[in-house]
Amino acid sequence: MAHIPYLQSIYPLAGESAVDIGAGEGTFSRQLAAEGAKVTAIEIDADKVAWARAHLPADITVKRGVAEKLPLPDASQDLCCMFFSLHHVPKEAQDTAFAEILRVTKPAGRLHIVEPFAYGTMFDVVRFVEDETEVRTHSHAILPQLSERLPLRLRAHEDYTLTRAFDSFDDFAEQIIRIDPARMEVFPDVADEMRAAYENAVEEEAGQRVLRQPCAAYHFEVMGSA
Ligand SMILES: C[S@@+](CC[C@H](N)C(=O)[O-])C[C@H]1O[C@@H](n2cnc3c(N)ncnc32)[C@H](O)[C@@H]1O
Repeated sequence: MAHIPYLQSIYPLAGESAVDIGAGEGTFSRQLAAEGAKVTAIEIDADKVAWARAHLPADITVKRGVAEKLPLPDASQDLCCMFFSLHHVPKEAQDTAFAEILRVTKPAGRLHIVEPFAYGTMFDVVRFVEDETEVRTHSHAILPQLSERLPLRLRAHEDYTLTRAFDSFDDFAEQIIRIDPARMEVFPDVADEMRAAYENAVEEEAGQRVLRQPCAAYHFEVMGSA
């Protein structure tokens, strides 16, 4: 299973206005647009915003911004998405982010959040440069209860595992540092141990070398404003 096929299976995307919050370089913005959604990608990091503006299809709007202060009008979106980005929003700012999501989503619109678990072979290797155990555990603690304290109704929930293929350890390292360049500060000190962990964890699948990242998707209907 992958993010957009799962989302598309529960919420047809064609013609829907969708915002991809914490879009990174826009991998999933591109896939949402390919399914016919009218996409706005929002990202905090200026370099990723510049890359996305240069490389994504022109019909995807790319804006620099944060989940806590979305650069979007009230009730303007059918769907708000967060793919692996909630745990990057500081814990103390997450309620502000949810209030912003409720502000920009149309009545009966949707909120789709996917968060990675703090386990799996991908996590086991990435943790050498950044251990996200605490922030990921926090996400999985709050998401099942979110509809009890916000005007949200849980419409679907699914756990699935992403499979990520890499050409080599060097390719893997390049990709995970690209996601967060601050990881380069510790990488030289842990590179040898990390390479050994990668070689131990990597699996062969259909002629590719892969790592796996289990995750959970929560799909909510927005019942009203905050
Ligand atoms: C793990 S990456 C996920 C990127 C993309 N959604 C994906 O799955 O490929 C998390 C992204 O969230 C961004 N981010 C960090 N803090 C944020 C915030 N407060 N609001 C929005 N995005 C944020 C990071 O810069 C990063 O690009």
